[in-house]
Amino acid sequence: MLKMYVNPNIKKGKINKEIYGHFAEHLGRGIYEGIYVGENSSIPNTNGMRNDVVEALKKMQVPVLRWPGGCFADEYHWKDGIGPKETRKKMINTNWGGVVEDNSFGTHEFMELCNQLGCEAYVNGNMGSGSVQEMSEWVEYMTFGGSSPLTKLREENGRKEPWNIKFFGVGNENWGCGGNMTPEYYANQYRQYQTFLRNYNSDKPINKICCGPNGNDYNWTKKVMEECFKGVQKEAHGLMDGLSLHYYTITGPDWFHKGSATGFSKEEWYKTLKATLNMEELITRHSTIMDEYDPEQNIGLMVDEWGNWFDVEIGTNPGFLYQQNTMRDALVAGINLNIFNKHCKRVRMANIAQMVNVLQSVILTEGEKMVLTPTYYVFYLYKNHQEATLVDSYLQTSLIGTEESKVPNLVESVSMNEEGHINMTINNLSADESYDVESLLVDFKAQNVNGTILKGNINAYNTFENPDVVKLEAFDAYELTDQGIKFTIPPCSVLHLEVF
Ligand code: AHR
Repeated sequence: MLKMYVNPNIKKGKINKEIYGHFAEHLGRGIYEGIYVGENSSIPNTNGMRNDVVEALKKMQVPVLRWPGGCFADEYHWKDGIGPKETRKKMINTNWGGVVEDNSFGTHEFMELCNQLGCEAYVNGNMGSGSVQEMSEWVEYMTFGGSSPLTKLREENGRKEPWNIKFFGVGNENWGCGGNMTPEYYANQYRQYQTFLRNYNSDKPINKICCGPNGNDYNWTKKVMEECFKGVQKEAHGLMDGLSLHYYTITGPDWFHKGSATGFSKEEWYKTLKATLNMEELITRHSTIMDEYDPEQNIGLMVDEWGNWFDVEIGTNPGFLYQQNTMRDALVAGINLNIFNKHCKRVRMANIAQMVNVLQSVILTEGEKMVLTPTYYVFYLYKNHQEATLVDSYLQTSLIGTEESKVPNLVESVSMNEEGHINMTINNLSADESYDVESLLVDFKAQNVNGTILKGNINAYNTFENPDVVKLEAFDAYELTDQGIKFTIPPCSVLHLEVF
């Protein structure tokens, strides 16, 4: 019997809802087809957005959406995406398959999508091939409430009121696709660009996101922080609200062989989970570097791209990054989200890549068909943590896996919501072993439990023909005790227990 300890008296910070954020880039069938089909489509839609997809996303509670990229952001010119659709300038999407982008999904359509989802907007600006003026004008166009030539243009395009933009990214991956810059060069550019991102609405200021590192590039974090803080008082900094971190789980031998999303062995299962657990070290070490400049932890570490990256499905466009999604993806999501929860003081936002039809998606579509992936259900279960308070927890574990890839058998995070309910999310990383767990809840008398579980074989996945192979089930393999709750967690599963 493994012991689990939960102490709701020890509160460890607020879990920002934005940790459960998403990302939608102009890439493959992510936006076009997956979300936006246009008003004239035979697929039921509201102002061009697929009703089935929006409805499913609302149930899962999307708190924030990042757009338009990714690498696409640094070649996107926002003025091409406003005004009458027939006259919008077309461009080549050089990053993703070389296809023609007709710009029919632009600023107004993105804000309409956020409105339908009821989520915050995270807009990523173009530093790589844009200008300070272009970026500054985009912010004015979207958020200025007064009268100016740009706000008149916005009104002509159908929107009188300004929008709220909660997050604005200054470039994307500027160490790579966003301009191949050095950290020193980027940081100085960042200082300049962010100066002209005006806060027109002091009640709802824009949070400025600076481009952070690629995985374990600690030098990038160090240099960017150093340059951005040069000659600026720490207390009155205000230059950045967040620093991004991108880390994908990629385990293939090289970039061109990342392995199949569905056909994998038990060895590859453990290898993938081990690579995912690396997120813990990345967050800890980047955060320690940030602490030197920002000891009060005012600046968030925004993990605005994360998830599994496998080979594309056979027969699909290699530039479209379309991959299936199995129980392995569910565990990767569960592990990452538990890590983000546990680091909620520093990690203020995270955005899985990407929402629909691209990389580790929560939804896949084909024509008018739609299927929910195992990753969708993990987000559905974990939504209970949004805006809750992380509480102290500890789970007795042992190392399992293969010689090459050792991982803990179980991982967890626990929060308490406003009503005083405890929500535990526990992942069993074992491909074939179940475990008995006895939890001790300090100063908490458990009377009721709602249990829900996602489980299956490691390779299990949903298809358009068989959409319910992996789905949520009620969980009743538990027993209330004087001290807490005892339960048996099956192999390869993501378990949610709400205790009250
Ligand atoms: O998510 C796909 C791509 O991965 C993004 O465009 C880029 O930022 C990252 O390299």
